[in-house]
Amino acid sequence: MPDPFGEDADTGKLYMCGIIGYTGHKNSLPVLIEGLRTLEYRGYDSAGVAVCTADGVIETVKSKGRIDLLQEKLDSLEKKVEGSCGIGHTRWATHGAPSDTNSHPHTAPSLALVHNGIIENYAEIEEMLVREGYTFYSETDTEAAAKLIDYYYKKVNDPVLAMFEAADVIRGSYAFGVMFCDFPGKIFAMRKDNPLIVASNDECGIIASDIPAILKHTNSYYQLEEGIVSVLCGSAIEFFDRTGKKADQKRLTVDWNVEQAQKGGFPHFMIKEIHEEPEAIRQTVSTRLGEDGLPLFGVHELDGDKLGKFKSIHIVACGTAMHAGLVGKAIIEKLARVSVDVDVASEFRYRDPILDPDDLVILLSQSGETADTLAALRHAKANGVCTLSIVNVIGSSVAREADCVLYTWAGPEISVASTKAYSVQCAMLYLFAIQLARVKGRLDDDEARELCRRLCEDMPAQVEKALELSRDVESIARNYLAVENLFFIGRGLDSALCPEASLKLKEISYIHSEAYAAGELKHGTISLIIEGTPVVALMTQERLCEKMISGIREVKSRGATVLAVTTKEIAEKYNIPADNTVILDNVDADFAAFPLATVIQLFAYHVAAQRGCDVDKPRNLAKSVTVE
Ligand code: AGP
Repeated sequence: MPDPFGEDADTGKLYMCGIIGYTGHKNSLPVLIEGLRTLEYRGYDSAGVAVCTADGVIETVKSKGRIDLLQEKLDSLEKKVEGSCGIGHTRWATHGAPSDTNSHPHTAPSLALVHNGIIENYAEIEEMLVREGYTFYSETDTEAAAKLIDYYYKKVNDPVLAMFEAADVIRGSYAFGVMFCDFPGKIFAMRKDNPLIVASNDECGIIASDIPAILKHTNSYYQLEEGIVSVLCGSAIEFFDRTGKKADQKRLTVDWNVEQAQKGGFPHFMIKEIHEEPEAIRQTVSTRLGEDGLPLFGVHELDGDKLGKFKSIHIVACGTAMHAGLVGKAIIEKLARVSVDVDVASEFRYRDPILDPDDLVILLSQSGETADTLAALRHAKANGVCTLSIVNVIGSSVAREADCVLYTWAGPEISVASTKAYSVQCAMLYLFAIQLARVKGRLDDDEARELCRRLCEDMPAQVEKALELSRDVESIARNYLAVENLFFIGRGLDSALCPEASLKLKEISYIHSEAYAAGELKHGTISLIIEGTPVVALMTQERLCEKMISGIREVKSRGATVLAVTTKEIAEKYNIPADNTVILDNVDADFAAFPLATVIQLFAYHVAAQRGCDVDKPRNLAKSVTVE
């Protein structure tokens, strides 16, 4: 079993979709559906299958929604889809909202194709193919890839060569599974940047995005290399390079069960998703930067000078998303000097908020389906206020109903406790703050470009460094397994993270905790501090350290045990009277939210995991609260 926290753990490219392919002696359909179910953690907004019959007829069935809906559609068919070679796909939408048409597989006259990844130049490919007489039906980038391979197949009359020719034109990332009508029983696979594995046993050949889908058939596989096309026919697997020469590949084995494989070797989805934060931040920010390295939202209200007209901003959300709004408030007011208030969505519409036509309401939501947030959005629109949603699920209700939407790119978040979604919401709010500050004339382009660079490059690196503290945090967490109450305190930006630190600990470890502005404790709550009361002091803001140290002294004089989370620079400069300290790498005070968030998430995770709690599915909680 690989070390779940070491380099063996699989936290590569963020999972966007699930691919499965089968060629063998059985009817492929049940194998495809079963394989897709093991891959639903990678994306689940729509699914589809294509089966090639022995006489080279490809039949495709696809459906918006979960795999059960696809199964129902298949069951309802009068003429059952049957064939011993097929491909399947479960989707996490990136281009084109979830719909039957946008679901994979996508087809062309000679083939069917499933894809995981992003074709960056799909629009120009489509334009060329339209000129060549092709017709497009979907909003996806994938359809362009399918028709491009078909275009070359017609030219070179060789499926392997056609895939290489198309790959030379495509810019972006891909994992393709392809069936050609002229080659019944065969599956063709190739990849760039996205994972794709090929495997076989003495009965069949399998392609899959990830290990869980093959474990029913075998525990040995090939990690398909880039620049190679693999051809599977029954148990036979061949690898070809660009020159058409046969290539060898190293066969790997794994001793994971399906559940372990779905978590990439980590014990829980939550810790796996915390480890995905660097890539999630990188993808979320980079997709919103123009060639000039400045924010490019692609929405007139946010790119043009209309953004400058907003005089006041209301950030409205629930739970962890609302806590990201607290961080957003701090950075927007710091950089753009525009006033921001943060509202709990379930209260927003009932407090008859004062909304001005020059206001902007920003809705934050990972799922995009939270009923309270959707209701707040509708209230804002009913009052004629411009609405911007920052959402992680393409085509979700909060995304569709807002005037503008900025998607985050965290990939599916499976654990009920939100972690990487929080980090990317903060990242998108930082980017928004930079753009607003530019439009307000408070940042020139060079200053804005540098901040964008730090957000896109330095912050993922900072989070990587914070992840290296996981084992230290794990051993410190052992001191907190039996506590019943705990306080998180901080000042400035740190106080904006205390509520999230508190919620994370409460919701997965069931330990009661409170978040307090450190300066506020002495106004009452300090009466609760007795011998042994645990206090976690977040102190990344150097200019407020002396005040924090006096706050730590205050609680310690009443018996508290204090864990400080600070930076190397502060730890070296100040004598922090804490009982334990977690030391982050040095980070600019304004950007400290990112590594600090990772550490507070790790703390909550390790306390809960060591308490034996159901970390991914805490009692009483749902991943998306679609009731008011
Ligand atoms: C996250 O840890 C919580 N489980 C919960 O507070 C969540 O953030 C809240 O329900 C909002 O969900 P959303 O982001 O999908 O709208």
